[in-house]
Parts: sequence; structure tokens; C-alpha cells
Amino acid sequence: MDLRLALVGCGNVGRAFIALVAAKEAELRERYDLRLRFTGGATRTAGGWIADEGIAAAELAALTWPGAAWQPDAAPGSRAFEGDGLAFIAACPTDIVIELTTLNPLTGEPALSHIRAALEAGRHVVTANKGPIAHAYRELRELAQARGVQLRFESTVMDGTPIFNLAEFSLPATSITGVRGPLNSTSNYVLGEMARGATLEEALAGAQRGGFAEANPNYDLEGWDAAVKVTVLANVLMDAGLRPDEVAREGLGADAMRAAHAALAPGETLKQMAQARRGEDGRIAATVALVALPPRDVFAQLVPGETALRLEADTMGELTLIEGAGGPEQTAFGVLADVIAIARAIGA
Ligand SMILES: NC(=O)c1ccc[n+]([C@@H]2O[C@H](COP(=O)([O-])OP(=O)(O)OC[C@H]3O[C@@H](n4cnc5c(N)ncnc54)[C@H](OP(=O)(O)O)[C@@H]3O)[C@@H](O)[C@H]2O)c1
Repeated sequence: MDLRLALVGCGNVGRAFIALVAAKEAELRERYDLRLRFTGGATRTAGGWIADEGIAAAELAALTWPGAAWQPDAAPGSRAFEGDGLAFIAACPTDIVIELTTLNPLTGEPALSHIRAALEAGRHVVTANKGPIAHAYRELRELAQARGVQLRFESTVMDGTPIFNLAEFSLPATSITGVRGPLNSTSNYVLGEMARGATLEEALAGAQRGGFAEANPNYDLEGWDAAVKVTVLANVLMDAGLRPDEVAREGLGADAMRAAHAALAPGETLKQMAQARRGEDGRIAATVALVALPPRDVFAQLVPGETALRLEADTMGELTLIEGAGGPEQTAFGVLADVIAIARAIGA
């Protein structure tokens, strides 16, 4: 099968995805009879391009875009594209729109409008951007169903760790009744370093040097990142219909972290935990909170930088996934897993 891909947003994850497709080209062909070509790319500041016949990943990886403006001479059959993401989606001939723009946790935009437009136009969509899934999952799911296309978003929580694909393909006839985990790597890295004797400021500077803290660290420390992630999990896995601002975030932030750290009993480990659970009345309540974990708790064993998620299922009971240090490469894997899932679904 031949599939055309268009990238809306090409930063760390987009570049890692192009490199991964280039590295896996032969394997994709041999194992899945799948040939992927890029027919376009768009960015906010470095402009975009369209190539009707598509460009192979290895060829695209060798070009300087998006480090510099698109040079049509370097890629025969291509043209530079001026215009915003919506104009690009309307103009680019593609089977799948890969949405990898910057996260806006408060509104999900511009990714939400990009995804809506792509689905409306009958394109399959893969995204790593959790904003649209947190804010408008039901609407987007219904739109995709109405247009007969796929919407996949494996990389929105814990990079490429298989969560949504696991639930869809490997947990048949199962109800997920709860999710729980230390989902924000920056907060838990900072708490881990504080346990080793660092101050909060020193630990936060380390997270920023490591490149995984948000530009505004309060977004991590005050639980917004975890609230958006747990909203995605609850909405997709438990059909919760939650908004991120409905997640209870109490006792968070730098001062609360210092106070809770000082109050720990010997052997306890402090984590910022997110959870969503269906209550007796059928309603789903979600929280992000600082929790003192006993020594034997599996989440207390995680080293700084690791994230984890426990699913509570009516068939399997508890199932726990742990991710080592993640980043653009793991996120790119989740995007590729989604592309392969689309190929399987439409090729069946
Ligand atoms: N990095 C990770 O490890 C990771 C893990 C999980 C999920 N994610 C999610 O994956 C997405 C991409 O992350 P990233 O690290 O690749 O981000 P990034 O390096 O900041 O790249 C974002 C890209 O989106 C482009 N962009 C922003 N607004 C746009 C618009 N209105 N129209 C067209 N292009 C636009 C940017 O263009 P300019 O550069 O010109 O502004 C850039 O090419 C985010 O939603 C992020 O939350 C990332």
C-alpha cells in the first residue's frame, strides 16, 4: 500500500518522525507492504512546501527545511507554500495529516482547527498534540466516524508508550474503570532530585537543561500538564466527557512541594500523581495531587525521568506500564505506530 503523509508542524517530533520513517523504510515495505511518501510540510515561521508526487523520507531528511526556507531546486517536483495551516491542509494532496504543532493546553488551538479541517476534508489524522483530544475528543471522534476516516493519537500521553492502541487492540471486551500514575516527568524529576538533597530551584534548572520542562515550569509544577493528560485518558478510555479545568488540582506548586517534602515520614517517596476513577454513581472524578507513597509502592520505585500509568480494568485487574526516559524519538514511534494502524484498518 502507498500512503501520502502531510506534516503540519515539523519541530523536534516532526524531524524525529522523518528520520524514523527513513530508518524503517525497508522494514515497512517488507513486513507491511507499506510505502510512505511525504507530500507536504507546514510550519509557523519557516514556511511550507508541497510535492504532488511525494518525497521519500531519506531524501526529505537530507534537506535543510525547516532549518531554512524550502528550496524547490533541491527537491524536483516540489514548490514552496505560503499560507497558514488551514490553507495548507486544503491544498496538500495527502491520505494522512500528521498534526505536530505546538501544544496550547488552554484551548487546544491551532491543532484543534487543523484536525477538524483535515477530518472534514476526508483525511485520516494522526496527532501527538494532546490539546485537541483533551478539549474536543467526542466531537472529533464523531466527525471522523461520520467521514469514514481514522483519528489516532497514541503519542499524546507518555510519548509512544502503547496505551490507546493497547486498549483498542489488546484489551477486547474490557471496561477501564480507573487510571493512575505520575504522568508529569518534570514534577517527578524535581521531587526525585529533592529527595537526593537538591533544592527545588536546582532540580528545576536540571529539568530545564534536560529539555523536558515546559518553558513556563508552573505549568508542570501546578499540575496543568498532568490535568490535560488525565483528561485525555479519562475521555478516551472511560468516555468521561471531562474538560482539563474540571480536574481537581489541590495542594500543588513550588511551596506545596517544599512543605510536603519536609513533612515526609522516613521511607516515603513524594510524587505528583494524576488519577481518574469511576465512582459508585457512575461519575468520573479526576485529580492531580502530591502523594506520599509507601516504600513498596511500584510508583515509588521509579527513577527521576520515568513515567508510569496503571490501568484498572474489569477483565485484567491492574495493569501497569512504565516508560524509561522519553522524548521526540519515542513520540515519533507512536506516530508511526498510528500510521501503521491506519494502513492496517484501510487495507483490511
Ligand atoms: N517533544 C516531545 O517529546 C513530545 C512528546 C509528546 C508529545 N509531544 C507533542 O508533540 C507536538 C510537537 O512537539 P515538538 O516537540 O515537535 O514541538 P516543537 O519542536 O515546538 O515544534 C512545533 C512545530 O509546530 C509548528 N507550528 C506551530 N504553530 C503552527 C501553526 N499555527 N501552523 C503550522 N505550524 C505550526 C512550529 O513551527 P515554527 O518552528 O516555525 O514555530 C514547529 O515546526 C506538541 O503538541 C507536543 O506537545 C511532544
